[in-house]
Amino acid sequence: MAKKSIVLLLVLVMLTSVFAGCSAAKSGKTVGVTMPTKSLQRWNEDGANVKAALEAKGYKVDLQYADNKQDVQNTQIENQITQGVDVLVIASIDGGALGGVLEQAKKAKIPVIAYDRLITNTDKCDYYATFDNYGVGKMQGEFIVSELGLDKGEKGPFSMECFGGDPGDNNAGLFNKGAMDVLQQYIDSGVLVVKSAQTKFPDQIAITNWESKGAQDRMDNLLTAYYADENIDVVLSPNDSLAQGIVASLKSAGYGSSSKPFPVLTGQDCDKINVGQIIRGEQSMSIFKDTRDLADQVIVMTNAILAGEEVPTNASYDNGVIEVPSYNCEIKFANKDNWKSLLVDSEYYELADIPDAK
Ligand code: BGC
Repeated sequence: MAKKSIVLLLVLVMLTSVFAGCSAAKSGKTVGVTMPTKSLQRWNEDGANVKAALEAKGYKVDLQYADNKQDVQNTQIENQITQGVDVLVIASIDGGALGGVLEQAKKAKIPVIAYDRLITNTDKCDYYATFDNYGVGKMQGEFIVSELGLDKGEKGPFSMECFGGDPGDNNAGLFNKGAMDVLQQYIDSGVLVVKSAQTKFPDQIAITNWESKGAQDRMDNLLTAYYADENIDVVLSPNDSLAQGIVASLKSAGYGSSSKPFPVLTGQDCDKINVGQIIRGEQSMSIFKDTRDLADQVIVMTNAILAGEEVPTNASYDNGVIEVPSYNCEIKFANKDNWKSLLVDSEYYELADIPDAK
């Protein structure tokens, strides 16, 4: 009996050390991940997905959120460099304001992956994992065109107002360009009428930090100044946090009845609140960017970089200093007809998480 126990113990000790050896080999590397803010749903989703995906591959992860302050994020990155992380994954706030801290990453030879948002004005941005950002704006513009039948010769005129994202976020300019490349011709021909005449990004239409409240305030002002006697037909919103503020404003101005129907309204991210807005007919569409795909891409990049292998890319972005080798993940159109298969059947959300979902 005693002999048996000793043998068993020995086997156990051996097994434990084999497993410990495995995880030590895998978890030897640490990835520093910095995200912009917890205040918008998508970054919570992103942070959790990236952390889980990296940990599942045996990496240690230091995940930080910066309350939308670039100086706070720079300090977090500095700390990660001091800790000696092996790779930095950064979703920036003001993509042009990381140059200084990235000089330190360069000296320490730590590879940098820009996450979702391009890091600009530096030669220390080694790779960029993102979605097709120009494609997002283009999809929104094309949706407006087909929803109004402009491609079938419908002449309107339809009233429209345009919103833009945070000026420090490189994506915001790409979303705007993608949409305006489709819509500008209809503004020029008078089929789409922007009564405020505010179409310039960022000067006239940007919303700082992508805040819903900022979008709500601007929409309130537009409705009071230009739409007191006439309903607005279309609102171009680049994302869902802005679309939340826009819907709040429209509701308080009495939209949502047969004499005052909600305008055509775009979005992006498929935030849970916005899927609820789509279900209730307050928002027309959103764009699903499956952040699990982006997390997977970060893993592929991290593994390849650390193994000294070629990093798979399918795009490149000019960051003002260099062409950054990049990977664009696929974007997907979402509306009232397909949200369930896109978001629930794919197990991205549970049905119970979405307001008013059945
Ligand atoms: C992201 C969008 C997001 C926005 C606000 C952008 O950089 O690409 O998905 O809606 O930031 O968080």
